[in-house]
Amino acid sequence: MKNIVILISGRGSNMEALIAARDAGRLPVNIAAVISNRPDARGLETAARAGITAHFVDHQAFAGREAFDAALAECIDGFAPDLVVLAGFMRILSDGFVRRYAGRLINIHPSLLPAFPGLHTHRKALEEGVRIHGCTVHFVTPTLDHGPIVIQAAVPVLDGDDEATLAARVLRQEHVVYPQAVRWFAEDRLRLEEGCVRLAAAPRAEAVLIAPEVC
Ligand code: GRF
Repeated sequence: MKNIVILISGRGSNMEALIAARDAGRLPVNIAAVISNRPDARGLETAARAGITAHFVDHQAFAGREAFDAALAECIDGFAPDLVVLAGFMRILSDGFVRRYAGRLINIHPSLLPAFPGLHTHRKALEEGVRIHGCTVHFVTPTLDHGPIVIQAAVPVLDGDDEATLAARVLRQEHVVYPQAVRWFAEDRLRLEEGCVRLAAAPRAEAVLIAPEVC
């Protein structure tokens, strides 16, 4: 069974979705550890309650990005993960860190990339007046919120939506697609090959999820 390490910074609801999928027998992985860059991340308590090793590497204790990333990598490598899963990890990672985990570092972003990288994605979607919004799981490259796309889920933007209602609709889909992507990796069906996502024995359509509200 593959080892995964989950990195968080706060609430940790995507981490919870991964734990729930594992507990339900839908995600055959060993969650070796959850690591936060913030000591007060709510998700750390949730992980510990679930019996998962929970650590923090406080970014504020380090002089610069490289020093923090080195300490974080040392902590991660102690668990020998096959896959490092960024789940609301709110730190820009150095090129060296990204290269170290090339092909085994994935992220979830609350927009249909390449639209709306960065923060405040739901606000930007509302400002732009898009009719379809969503979330993306992708392999991480040195460019922020960029990289080969594994799976996306689309939701409608409805009349009367505000940031909170739209964020909640997207988050429900995040909790569906992230366990799916990690499951593909766990089953050796997902890999990165020369910068392209290879998804074995899964129809391309499986990587496109349209939330029921759209139909
Ligand atoms: C999610 O919307 C995720 O896509 C983004 O940050 C948020 C984290 O939420 N990267 P949670 O901590 O998983 O609840």
